[in-house]
Amino acid sequence: MKKTLLTLLIFLGISPAFLRADEGMWLLSLVKQYNIETMHLLGLQLSADDIYSETDPSLKDAIVWFENGCTGEIVSADGLLLTNHHCGYGDITDHSTVEHDYLTNGFWAATRKDELPNANATVSILVRMENVTDKVLAAIKGLDGQARETTAAKTMKEISTKATEGTVYNADVREMFRGSEYYLFVFETFKDIRLVGAPPSAIGKFGGDTDNWMWPRHTGDFSMFRIYCGKDNKPAEYSADNVPYHPKKFLKISLKGYSKNDFAMIVGFPGRTNRYLSSYAINLTLKETYPALVTMWEEKLSIMKKYMDADPKIRIQLAEEYASVANVWKLFKGQIGFGISDEMITKKQKQEVAFTNWVNGLSNDSLKNVYGKVLPALKKKYDEFHPNNLPTIYGNNLLSLAFAGFASRFTDLYNVLTTEPIDVAKKDELISKLKNNTVDQFVKYFAPVDQEVMVAYLNAFSKGVPADKQGTFITDITAAYKAVTPEESFKKYAADVFAKSIFVSADKVNAFLAKPSSKILDKDPGYLFAKKVMAYTAQFPTAMSLGGAVKADNRTYLQGLRLMNSNKPYYPDANSTIRLTYGKISDYNPRDAVHYNYYSTLTGVMQKEDPTNEEFIVPKKLRDLYEKKDFGQYGFNGDVPTCFLTDNDITGGNSGSPVMNGNGELLGLAFDGNSEAMTGDFEFDPILKRTISVDIRYVMFIIDKYAGAQRLIDEMTFVK
Ligand code: ARG
Repeated sequence: MKKTLLTLLIFLGISPAFLRADEGMWLLSLVKQYNIETMHLLGLQLSADDIYSETDPSLKDAIVWFENGCTGEIVSADGLLLTNHHCGYGDITDHSTVEHDYLTNGFWAATRKDELPNANATVSILVRMENVTDKVLAAIKGLDGQARETTAAKTMKEISTKATEGTVYNADVREMFRGSEYYLFVFETFKDIRLVGAPPSAIGKFGGDTDNWMWPRHTGDFSMFRIYCGKDNKPAEYSADNVPYHPKKFLKISLKGYSKNDFAMIVGFPGRTNRYLSSYAINLTLKETYPALVTMWEEKLSIMKKYMDADPKIRIQLAEEYASVANVWKLFKGQIGFGISDEMITKKQKQEVAFTNWVNGLSNDSLKNVYGKVLPALKKKYDEFHPNNLPTIYGNNLLSLAFAGFASRFTDLYNVLTTEPIDVAKKDELISKLKNNTVDQFVKYFAPVDQEVMVAYLNAFSKGVPADKQGTFITDITAAYKAVTPEESFKKYAADVFAKSIFVSADKVNAFLAKPSSKILDKDPGYLFAKKVMAYTAQFPTAMSLGGAVKADNRTYLQGLRLMNSNKPYYPDANSTIRLTYGKISDYNPRDAVHYNYYSTLTGVMQKEDPTNEEFIVPKKLRDLYEKKDFGQYGFNGDVPTCFLTDNDITGGNSGSPVMNGNGELLGLAFDGNSEAMTGDFEFDPILKRTISVDIRYVMFIIDKYAGAQRLIDEMTFVK
């Protein structure tokens, strides 16, 4: 559609489906084809090539995949990088000790030499992306089921290998629309990423888990890193001789602010959505799977908290895991909330009725046949799988116990040790891999929590799995550890496992790996537990995993939906590939008689202050700056804007993503969604779904006025 016609339609107040500003996580290279005209009408000043270009510097060169789970953006010619505090959280805790508690007090590198290297940090920058659907579909023509999956995987691997031959790049082919389309992504991945600065948690995590997923929000959720590389500006392993990376492009910082309805866009790496699922899948997930997980995680969190509150060292050691469990716990709890899951299921059912009506009206018999069968087929598979769902959930959960998951990784070694003649090369290879795993496993491992959680999870299993599906799993334990209650037997059992298993101690595992013998594993109660859990879950087909038997039906259903709405462009579900969402600065009305403003201020931080609650402590220096109104160039209307709302379409993985104005300048960093739209990963609700971001003026105010890190301010480019 042409720009003039679009303008006319907007003028007349008619907005065709695809003109809706807010829904959609668009593939970056397709923005030119699908979105750019609408974006221009809404206020974008840049060209499509300014956003994505394979030849000239474009936004994609400044927006990075951070540690394969978050997004970050480069903000200086010397590779300075911004992401969320909750994204840098693991790195910040890694550097924290009770004596140097950067988590609590913050950290600011005084000079470049003080910037701290991180063992696990990586930054990937997209070099190019390409639609390779034809190649993959040609290879899998006529195949279905597992054969299709296997051949597709092999072809995808071949394409990515070929794409990087003779380069320093790495690549991945990702499927879209559940295997209807395939795209190649080529990256340059940097491994020497150093921590430059982080505010204290009282700013970076202000409001804690209480405010998490909520608006109004007052969190300074940012941290700062720098990309280092070899002298040739290419990725290099950590070395003291490495130098700051000079990017093709970096983002300018806007101090101009925004007004309601101003254009706003976000580019980042959203992790996972499931927008095109059937009601059957959602029903099982929201009514059964999530409630089970929420209850178990609640117990785990309270066990962790008990130990964290008792010992500052353990508080730092477990902080990262605690935050990530608490985050998903609150998300899932919100999704299953009163009435919310029913509403979501009803929406999907309505969509299915519309789909069935469309199919019935089709005149083409072969299409009618294909699409007419798909929903009944899905229903049948979910009905058949349903009795296996809880056993699978509770069983897998037992394997999520740290020691059990770790022990299960020794299965291959066990098999090599018990197969004559022993394959020595294979054995050595496995041992060296397991030695590395052992280092990772024990960095933050704390056995007492694992042991108590084991009891809690066994208890949950015995209560949550229908008796006729438990097999002898529980009765074996209660028979062996006779006690008055099942829970008492679980306690005795867990005590036994933790006293005798090698898998709860790095020293014991290392001693085993120095002289591995299958006899030790045969007697190890931790290994036997893992083996038993695996044997238990193996009885139940995992058909409902999206990679399993329902995948082809989901693909067909989605193809049908796209055909049914053939004038509406579809975007693929999020899958950690780079996407763009555009929309506007936006307030909202969450409930009857309630209106939420589109931004919050430092005054709100002061209003929330509660010195008796660790989540709402305000650092003295911040209060002083507030009282003196010492806001520098970052103030607005006698205050500092802290967080703001847009109607952009994001999900987990977008954390840290730049929110940009029509000139591609940085307005803030996206870091959360709102509690009223927790089911957003299943369906986008334009009325209720908002993106919560930290205002870049608050970020800069903290770096400049609170931390006094002038050298960093000097490095960035401000637009006033
Ligand atoms: N809800 C945010 C997200 O999923 C993460 C916020 C982390 N903060 C916290 N208090 N746990 O992206």
